[in-house]
Amino acid sequence: MDQTKQELRFAFGKNWSSFLQTLDDERIREAERDLVAHLGTDGLKGKTFLDIGSGSGLHSLAARRLGARVVSFDYDKDSVACTAHLRDTYFPGDADWRVEQGSALDRDYMAGLGRFDIVYSWGVLHHTGDMWTGLENAAARVAPGGTLFLAIYNDQGGGSSRWKRIKRFYNQAPAPVRLLMCLGYAGYWETRLALIRAVRLQNPLPFKAWRDKKKQRGMSYWHDVVDWMGGYPFEVARPEEIFDFHRKKGFVLRHLATCGGGIGCNEFVFSLETAQKENGKSA
Ligand SMILES: C[S@@+](CC[C@H](N)C(=O)[O-])C[C@H]1O[C@@H](n2cnc3c(N)ncnc32)[C@H](O)[C@@H]1O
Repeated sequence: MDQTKQELRFAFGKNWSSFLQTLDDERIREAERDLVAHLGTDGLKGKTFLDIGSGSGLHSLAARRLGARVVSFDYDKDSVACTAHLRDTYFPGDADWRVEQGSALDRDYMAGLGRFDIVYSWGVLHHTGDMWTGLENAAARVAPGGTLFLAIYNDQGGGSSRWKRIKRFYNQAPAPVRLLMCLGYAGYWETRLALIRAVRLQNPLPFKAWRDKKKQRGMSYWHDVVDWMGGYPFEVARPEEIFDFHRKKGFVLRHLATCGGGIGCNEFVFSLETAQKENGKSA
């Protein structure tokens, strides 16, 4: 699919550029910890790492700090600028971290990148407008024996269809309405969680979710709220669909973390057996 034909898109990169104002060492360490925990390795020295849809660039930075040679790309030019800014700040003049604008739907561009020990695409391919093509292209970039780390929105059936309509509305609404929607959503969850804590005789004080968010991949609660409300195009998949799709290509599931059937992403870490069975050849 030609992505330029997708009429409505959330300005991901603008949100990431605001997120970078909050970046500190703790967030960077959390991003590193998350990669190490999921990839089951102490460091990434000598590994090649492809970050598809790098967003802020935080996880590319984490991979580079862990020793990987990194290629990062994103479709949104503001996301590309964020990632390039992190590279220029933390690794100025570094030949082992390339940052580019490109699309996960552009098969020829992707094929030209080669194959990687680790292909990372967290929360991206469901926002391309053609998720299964994006998944196909991402899988084809994994070197034999390599790792594919994905996060894809969970399919909630009717709930997901309703969210798709809300997100469409959000992206067409004026800025004050968008702000109210984000405040309403964050306020609803904050109140609900505070009440649950009170019933459980725990400290009900608000903003626990805000504080805890930093420990989840180094993210920020408010920027995640904006990303969730706005994130469009929006597609979803059931965990078993993602599993079956990759199993047929010779991938073995090493780690699965579901969002418990609700709103949010399911995370998958796959290993590619020595050859991609379905294609039977390198791209
Ligand atoms: C929710 S953000 C995730 C960013 C980052 N991976 C992370 O985990 O923080 C989704 C990113 O996917 C990017 N994106 C959307 N469509 C894309 C495409 N076709 N190719 C590459 N990146 C794309 C967006 O521009 C955005 O930066």
